[in-house]
Amino acid sequence: MKENYKVGIIGATGMVGQRFITLLHDHPWYTIEVLAASPRSAGKKYTEAVGAKWAMDEEIPASVRDMVVMDATADVEKIASMVDFVFCAVDMKKDEIKALEEAYAKAECPVVSNNSAHRHTPDVPMIIPEINADHAEIIEAQKKRLGTKRGFISVKSNCSLQSYVPALHPLKKYGITKVLATTYQAISGAGKTFETWPEMVDNMIPYIGGEEEKSEVEPLKIWGKIEGDKIVDATEPSITTQCLRVPVSNGHMAAVFVSFDKKPSMEDIKKAWAEFSGEPQALKLPHAPKQFLNYFEEDNRPQTKLDRMMEGGMAVSIGRLRPDTQYDYKFVCLSHNTLRGAAGGAVLMAELLTAKGYMD
Ligand SMILES: NC(=O)c1ccc[n+]([C@@H]2O[C@H](COP(=O)([O-])OP(=O)(O)OC[C@H]3O[C@@H](n4cnc5c(N)ncnc54)[C@H](OP(=O)(O)O)[C@@H]3O)[C@@H](O)[C@H]2O)c1
Repeated sequence: MKENYKVGIIGATGMVGQRFITLLHDHPWYTIEVLAASPRSAGKKYTEAVGAKWAMDEEIPASVRDMVVMDATADVEKIASMVDFVFCAVDMKKDEIKALEEAYAKAECPVVSNNSAHRHTPDVPMIIPEINADHAEIIEAQKKRLGTKRGFISVKSNCSLQSYVPALHPLKKYGITKVLATTYQAISGAGKTFETWPEMVDNMIPYIGGEEEKSEVEPLKIWGKIEGDKIVDATEPSITTQCLRVPVSNGHMAAVFVSFDKKPSMEDIKKAWAEFSGEPQALKLPHAPKQFLNYFEEDNRPQTKLDRMMEGGMAVSIGRLRPDTQYDYKFVCLSHNTLRGAAGGAVLMAELLTAKGYMD
C-alpha cells in the first residue's frame, strides 16, 4: 500500500457525489484530485457548478470549493492520468454509464461505482465488504477480459437491500428458505430533498422504478460464488419485496419476514447478529463500523431520525425481532442510504480493495 492515493469523483455535483466529497476530503489514505460531472458543470468552479444543489448538512469543504470541474466523458484519458482511481455516481443512460466506466477501466483507472449499469456483468464484483470481500478475486478475470493491467470496475449494490442483506447474512447457517421485505425509502435515494421534491411532504409513493427487481435479484449475486471467470448467482433464498418512497430525508427502513430450514431461537439470532464481523473490522479499515449489526431491545427502535447515523452512518440497526404466524420470524432494520447505502459503502469497498493491493 502507498501512503496516499489520488482519487477522482465522477458525478461530483450529484447527491452521492456530494457525499463522496464530505467523506473523502479529510480521508487518511485518499486525496481528492479531480471532480468531474456533465458538460453543464465542466469548466466551472465546484461551488458554482453545484450551486443550490448542495444538500449536505456541512459546508462545502474548503479544499474543493475552487476546484474546476472536469468533463467526465470528454476528459477520461486526462482524468485517468491524474488519479489512482475514481469513484463514479452519475445520472446517465445505462449503456452510457457502462461505456463510461469501461473507458476509465481501459485507461488503467480502477472504478468504484455506485451505478447499477455493471451490477450484473458476471466478472464485475458487487461487494458488501463484511459479506463477500472474497469476490474481489474475480477482478483478475475481468482485467484479462478488458486487456488491462490495473484498470477494473467494482460496484456497490442497491441502497434498498443494505439493511436486510447484512441482517440476514449471519443467519444463512440456519438455511434461510424465504424472505419477504418491504422497504420504506428516503427521498435522498432519488437524489432529492424536500426543497427539490415538495410533493413528498406528507406523502408516500408506492412505486420506485426498478427497485423491487434489484432488491430481489442483487442479494443472490452477493451470496453467489466465483466459478472460473465469473460470479454465479446463488439460487436461494427466494426473496419478494415491495419498495415504497416515504417522507424521510435520509435512511431506508425495511420490515422483514424470514423462514428457515433449521429454525433458530430468538437468542441464537441475536447472538449471531452481536457476534458478526467481517474483513473491514479485521483490517480496521478507516470507515469500518466497530459493530456492524446492532440490535435494539426497545419496542420503538430503530428509528430513522435517532439511529441512521450510528457509527457515522455505516452501521445497520435492527429491532422488533419476534415470531410470526406465517413466517418463522419478523424484524425491522435500518441503514443510512447515502452513507452505508451509497457513498460510504463505496468508500469502504475502495478501502478494502486498497488494503488488498488492487489500487497500487
Ligand atoms: N442517491 C442514492 O442514495 C443512491 C444510492 C445508490 C446508488 N445511486 C446511484 O448513483 C448515481 C447517482 O445518483 P445521485 O442520486 O447522486 O444523482 P444526482 O443527484 O441526479 O446526480 C447525478 C450526477 O451525474 C452527473 N451527470 C449527469 N449527466 C451526466 C453526463 N452526461 N456526463 C457526466 N455526468 C453526468 C450530474 O452532473 P451535473 O450536475 O453536471 O448534471 C451529477 O453530478 C445513480 O446511478 C444512482 O442510481 C444513488
